[in-house]
Amino acid sequence: MKNVILIGFMGTGKSSCGRVLAHQLGFRFVDLDRAIERRWHITIPEMFSRYGEEYFREKERIMVKEYAGRKHIVLATGGGTVKNAENVALLKTTGAIVCLTATPEVILSRTNRPGRRPVLDAKEKELGDRLLAVKALMEERRYLYDCADYQVDTGEKTPLQVAQEIMGYMKRIS
Ligand code: S3P
Repeated sequence: MKNVILIGFMGTGKSSCGRVLAHQLGFRFVDLDRAIERRWHITIPEMFSRYGEEYFREKERIMVKEYAGRKHIVLATGGGTVKNAENVALLKTTGAIVCLTATPEVILSRTNRPGRRPVLDAKEKELGDRLLAVKALMEERRYLYDCADYQVDTGEKTPLQVAQEIMGYMKRIS
């Protein structure tokens, strides 16, 4: 079976569903953000505040290249990983791209804690309201996730239900 690449906006459940899915498939779970943090010994928010977004995106590209060569993995990307066309092309060659979605309200409830998501925090600072910030970023990224082969709304589902839905899809295409 192909790798599964999870893409989608922040707070759509890429990490929580990915972990369960990997367990169910007997695949290794890789969280791209955590892999970056381990490699460069710095948290993502710290990386953004010390070196800026471009620096982070460069590290993200390096890790995408590294994991694109692996087999039997479920890879949870960051919400902005697919902003880079090269990342998309590379990820396409390594597995099925599955986009997780949720409404702005659900996303807000899952990403409410400040200090963890620098892109969202910055937008909130600019607009003065976190829900507005989620909506504005979702609008900016409206077509970003169109590269997916399959899509699952995670709003009303448990990670296990999402994982089962993705497994059904993976079986159909393999
Ligand atoms: C980002 C999403 C984050 C992380 C970084 C940038 C984005 O990942 O990669 O803070 O640009 O949407 P999550 O989607 O796991 O929050």
